[in-house]
Amino acid sequence: MKHRRVLRAAVTVAVTGALAAGMTMALTTSASAGTTLRASAAEKGRYFGAAVATGKLSTSAYVTVLNREFNSVVAENEMKWDATEPQQGQFRYTGGDRLVSHAQANGMSVRGHALLWHQQEPGWAQSMSGSALRSAMINHVTQVATHFRGKIHSWDVVNEAFADGGSGGRRDSNLQRTGNDWIEAAFRAARAADPGAKLCYNDYNTDGINAKSTGIYNMVRDFKSRGVPIDCVGFQSHLGTSLAGDYQANLQRFADLGVDVQITELDVMTGGNQANIYGAVTRACMNVSRCTGITVWGVRDCDSWRGSDNALLFDCNGNKKAAYTNVLNALNAGPAIPTDPPTDPPTDPPTDPPTDPPTDPPAVGCSASVSLNSWTGGFVASVKVTAGSAGTSGWNVGFTLPSGASVTNTWSATASGSTGTVRFANVNYNGRLGAGQVTEFGFQGTGSASGVTPTCTAS
Ligand code: XIL
Repeated sequence: MKHRRVLRAAVTVAVTGALAAGMTMALTTSASAGTTLRASAAEKGRYFGAAVATGKLSTSAYVTVLNREFNSVVAENEMKWDATEPQQGQFRYTGGDRLVSHAQANGMSVRGHALLWHQQEPGWAQSMSGSALRSAMINHVTQVATHFRGKIHSWDVVNEAFADGGSGGRRDSNLQRTGNDWIEAAFRAARAADPGAKLCYNDYNTDGINAKSTGIYNMVRDFKSRGVPIDCVGFQSHLGTSLAGDYQANLQRFADLGVDVQITELDVMTGGNQANIYGAVTRACMNVSRCTGITVWGVRDCDSWRGSDNALLFDCNGNKKAAYTNVLNALNAGPAIPTDPPTDPPTDPPTDPPTDPPTDPPAVGCSASVSLNSWTGGFVASVKVTAGSAGTSGWNVGFTLPSGASVTNTWSATASGSTGTVRFANVNYNGRLGAGQVTEFGFQGTGSASGVTPTCTAS
């Protein structure tokens, strides 16, 4: 059945088409039919994104399509390790910052891609191993996620860490050889650096229930059970001429673990099935309420890394292809993500006032607790500071580190000293806390910090 279309401004807010048009229209399953990918996705509570090469942001034909159709972007290369830390400890954010500004000026969210990946490592990291590499990679995660803090919707914290083929295990790489816990160490460091970003694991050849996707599924289940901070799984979906029949079922089994799922790098081999496959992938996402968005890996066929595959939604002149129409129709026909929180207030207010005093009456001053993520030769400490009953206008947390341990890097606090007794003072935005309010900071170090206990002083 054909939906009637209502022509509207490209940038559409969540107003129903019927209202906006002020006329009667034949409604089918959806309240309205958007006329761009971004409007249609937004009406369903989702984003529709594209990978962007920032060099093309000065090409007007490219930008016209990008701004009209997409409300999310990801850097095709500019936020990768080789681009952001070309020399160890020297960070370069020009390309990434440019993309973020473009996104902010055009109502787009940003996916961050990718903090750690065995490809596109800078040369200096390629030649590292062991605890030196472990420190360098965690430092990279911390620095880059801190730089973009508050600006990233979802980060691909780790990209492509699982092996192809039937093993269902990890891929060998210098990152993997630092210890099997490298992925969780990266997620913990990313959470500490940017608590507002959703943290994703991203991979390819995971487009159905297979040994590789099951290996990842088991890792995500383990992370959720142990409280390792993971929020989403990205399915790259670089596709050929057919789509696995259980593509949607695979997304759903991950969603059932309590993570969001996202289609992160969609492109499809040209040929008779291309438009159908694009439609089917979009429908699968729409049918999974935790599938929060789709990103295609480029704008026009000629922008694609897949050369002559003509794998995208627009031809080289920016014209919409049949695949585009199928995607748009699937977005318009699909259900919206259920909105939360529930709109109704709880029906039964508690009848009795609580009889027990709070078990931990907040101390005057402040208290601090630490959680350590350690590996051989290094650690990341995440510290929680809780204000006492009088609140704080500033705080200072001290640790006495065991000999051999040394702080190499701190975020959301200012360190004095790096060995022995080390003190961390608030920075300007997190010193003032109301009674019972909590803030977090972190630091990274070499050696072992096991057994350390913090002391907190408020001012
Ligand atoms: C690709 C880019 O599109 C190319 O420009 C670059 O030369 C290589 O990387 N999986 C990923 C992406 O996670 O980062 C890759 O992007 C494509 C495969």
